[in-house]
Amino acid sequence: MYKHFYNLQRNPFEITPDPSFLFATKKHNEALATLYYGVKRRKGFVVMTGEVGTGKTLLVRCLLQILSRANVAYAYVFNPRLSPMEFLQYIAGDFRLPTAGKSKSELLLDLSSYVIARFQKGLTTVLVVDEAHHLSIDVLEEVRLLTNLETHREKLLQILLVGQQELDEKLDSTDLRQLKQRIALRSHLGSLDLDETRGYVHRRLQLAGNTNPSELFPRETILELHQQSRGFPRLINTVCENALIHGYARQSRSITPEIITEIAVDFRLNVERPSTAEQSTRGNGHVVEVQQAAMTLLDLYAHLRNAQKSETDLRATVGEGARKNEPYI
Ligand SMILES: Nc1ncnc2c1ncn2[C@@H]1O[C@H](COP(=O)(O)OP(=O)(O)OP(=O)(O)O)[C@@H](O)[C@H]1O
Ligand SMILES: [Mg+2]
Repeated sequence: MYKHFYNLQRNPFEITPDPSFLFATKKHNEALATLYYGVKRRKGFVVMTGEVGTGKTLLVRCLLQILSRANVAYAYVFNPRLSPMEFLQYIAGDFRLPTAGKSKSELLLDLSSYVIARFQKGLTTVLVVDEAHHLSIDVLEEVRLLTNLETHREKLLQILLVGQQELDEKLDSTDLRQLKQRIALRSHLGSLDLDETRGYVHRRLQLAGNTNPSELFPRETILELHQQSRGFPRLINTVCENALIHGYARQSRSITPEIITEIAVDFRLNVERPSTAEQSTRGNGHVVEVQQAAMTLLDLYAHLRNAQKSETDLRATVGEGARKNEPYI
């Protein structure tokens, strides 16, 4: 509804990851280059992690576009809450291999034959797993076995795992140390700095057709936007989309910092509660503290009782007529 008012041909701040909107920051460039290089040089196992809403899926989609053009076959797993069997069935199915009635070992055999046949023709085959922080340890073990498909010099199946920070933590676990050792390349995405935020917003507005983005989102508005969103692209999109709706409702030609602040308050951007896990750790910590305090008090009590007893004994000894029951505590 605001498009005509702000000279836009399309919606600039959709939250779906659309490769045509890619704003190539240094970090995004490096991460995409790492994924591409890993595949091209047949490095085998590549991991990209990043905070929530920082553009991981967007980069995966950009890469898949490039791979499609380069005749690279890929299986793309984007919902990896699967059992090991379902995981293998899904990959085989994505490579258009028959899966019905196949046992796990038959599926693995079919997958290896497929990958080897492609390799012999000089073709590359890739497995991409997005949201890989959701993979169970059992499925990650299957991934490790798939990384074993190799010649003396090169890996036959290129595997890219992409996920949030928890993926790093999973890969750090002792159970997965073999898999961790096989990682050939890694990259990480974080939030945008102030300049990148400005470039990001203006670029999206330009791509959507606006010719004067610094009038629509001036410097001070970008400053407030960066503070409220902490530079996370998905949050930036949500705030900007709502800012355009508010701005249009007020017939304001320019988005003011106040509009951004109001939206941030509506979306409770500054309110973040610790997760249940954090809370329970904190809860336990609290219990431990109380226990320690109780122990200290008991020690103190015992100490004072002893001191009181010694004094009473002393008085009795020196014949002052020991007076009883004058407690110290
Ligand atoms: N460099 C960028 N250029 C253009 N848009 C971007 C960029 N980085 C992120 N975005 C946009 O931010 C939003 C979130 O991106 P995306 O879904 O890729 O994040 P994510 O890291 O996969 O998040 P999650 O951890 O929740 O899976 C999307 O609208 C995406 O287009
Ligand atoms: Mg994602």
